Amino acid sequence: AADISADLEHVLRTADQIDARVAELAALIDADYAGRRPVLVGVLNGAMIVMSDLCRAMHCHVEVDWMAVSSYGSGTRSSGVVRILKDLTVDVAGRDVLIVEDIIDTGLTLSYLVHNIATRGAASVRVATMFRKPEALNAPVEADYVGFDLPDEFVVGYGLDYAGRYRNLRDLATLAPHVYR
Ligand code: PRP
Ligand code: MN
Ligand code: MG
Repeated sequence: AADISADLEHVLRTADQIDARVAELAALIDADYAGRRPVLVGVLNGAMIVMSDLCRAMHCHVEVDWMAVSSYGSGTRSSGVVRILKDLTVDVAGRDVLIVEDIIDTGLTLSYLVHNIATRGAASVRVATMFRKPEALNAPVEADYVGFDLPDEFVVGYGLDYAGRYRNLRDLATLAPHVYR
């Protein structure tokens, strides 16, 4: 089988650009949480890459936990229905929570999560996302830390998948049409 790079159309953000932006976000987050110990909540599976890079670029004390929340289906669009596949292990009551996402598209996943975690009595709930699609600007919740705003194209890599694949690409790229036609 060919290398996965044969399935790409063009690279929107290189691994080097992403690394540099992660370092900038980490510095902002470190400053904002100085003297506190936030719980970083990664949203599986997409956030696995940004979580590992972001938490290691930070210098304050953190705890790391995960939720798996998925919209139904494995296609290219969110379906509008959210369900919890794996819940938190940490009790976040009274804690400062930073939700870590790879991308916000419709904002549906994030709206659900922010409300859900706030309901558990978290002291604060903020959001960091590596990427943001244009539609996210119409969502009822806003991200506090955003890596890059993207055009409205279907992208993969840096944790983002198409039908479960391509998460392990270091760059963020569009898929060649032959892959999904
Ligand atoms: C993707 C992405 C975000 C969410 C964003 O996750 O990782 O979590 O969709 O879309 P929204 O803003 O329209 O809700 P997905 O449900 O594909 O699961 P995955 O992280 O396992 O790929
Ligand atoms: Mn996700
Ligand atoms: Mg996905």
